[in-house]
Amino acid sequence: APCAMADLFGRRITYLRLSVTDRCDLRCVYCMAEDMTFLPRDQVLSIEELDRLASAFIAMGVTKLRLTGGEPLVRKGIMDLFAGLSRHLACGALKELTLTTNGTQLARHAQALAQCGVKRVNVSLDTLDAARFRALTRRGTLGQVMEGIGAAQEAGLKVKLNAVALAGSTEHEVFDLIAFAHGRGMDLTFIETMPLGDVGVDRIDQYLPLDRLRACIAARLPLVETSERTGGPAHYVRVAQTGGRIGFITPMSHSFCESCNRVRVSATGVLYTCLGQEDAVDLKTPLRASPDDGPLRAAIAGAIRAKPRGHDFVIDRGVAPALARHMSALGG
Ligand code: GTP
Ligand code: 5AD
Ligand code: SF4
Repeated sequence: APCAMADLFGRRITYLRLSVTDRCDLRCVYCMAEDMTFLPRDQVLSIEELDRLASAFIAMGVTKLRLTGGEPLVRKGIMDLFAGLSRHLACGALKELTLTTNGTQLARHAQALAQCGVKRVNVSLDTLDAARFRALTRRGTLGQVMEGIGAAQEAGLKVKLNAVALAGSTEHEVFDLIAFAHGRGMDLTFIETMPLGDVGVDRIDQYLPLDRLRACIAARLPLVETSERTGGPAHYVRVAQTGGRIGFITPMSHSFCESCNRVRVSATGVLYTCLGQEDAVDLKTPLRASPDDGPLRAAIAGAIRAKPRGHDFVIDRGVAPALARHMSALGG
């Protein structure tokens, strides 16, 4: 019954972000520390368990499922998971099956993803400059990601680019990013950096409020407000000159918690009802305790009812991260 998925603030939860691994082949400076320690593999749910968990949420009213990481495409067996989950698209219970990826492994998976009914993918891409890409991600190459984006488009997938707005650099590249994205028919969203996990630098030095970036864009390219949404937190404007869309994700400057429709599950089977809070409920135990989904569903419904009102992120000089947990642990 879908009403099991409403919280005490009347928000309906229809969007699940399921992290399939905390590992990643990159080490983006705003996301991870250089010397991250990853979960022991035996704590991570199996592909079968991830399927059962996602399926329980779908049976309870989730219509949008996004697989995240870490980097979802480094998870062994990931395509078996997509293939299995696609049955929920076929029967109409699930409206969207998708992922957020760093793109490094996308070239070899794009075709198969499309075959599983994935229609759109979100690819993280903060820069078009090869040297800056290397510095930001500390690993990997821009070429790999470009290949991945090309392969995704060739496979018929719609691509949305995600760029974390970083002070002192995004401003200098913003028009190149827009030209690149819109020249290839892709949406481009900018994201304000969030204070999750100690990444070894002061967040205030990274933080670029999106009002400032927007003003800088609008000074050269007229922007048209839209009320279009993609089911996530982005607020979109259209660039008159390119016809393309730019999305703004502004957790810091304009919080969107009031209209939140989503929850997250970690690769260890812990349900986090807010990205910015510690509130968490273990689902692995009820999942493993019984082949019957009753206890699992009860745990999900109970946790969702108690979903916190929102985050209370602060970015200021010398202020510790709001949460010790890194972004990569929950996939954002
Ligand atoms: P669409 O389906 O394309 O709308 O995607 P999405 O924005 O829901 O997902 P994506 O994985 O591309 O996330 C983009 C950014 O939005 C990431 O930095 C996420 O961490 C952030 N984000 C998504 N949901 C929330 C949320 O509920 N709260 C906060 N603070 N950030 C969120
Ligand atoms: N703040 C905002 N966005 C972040 N991402 C990773 N870490 C952060 C952070 N600290 C982004 C990634 C990816 C998305 C899932 O979250 O770049 O596009
Ligand atoms: Fe990996 Fe994504 Fe984190 Fe970058 S933002 S380190 S690509 S999980």
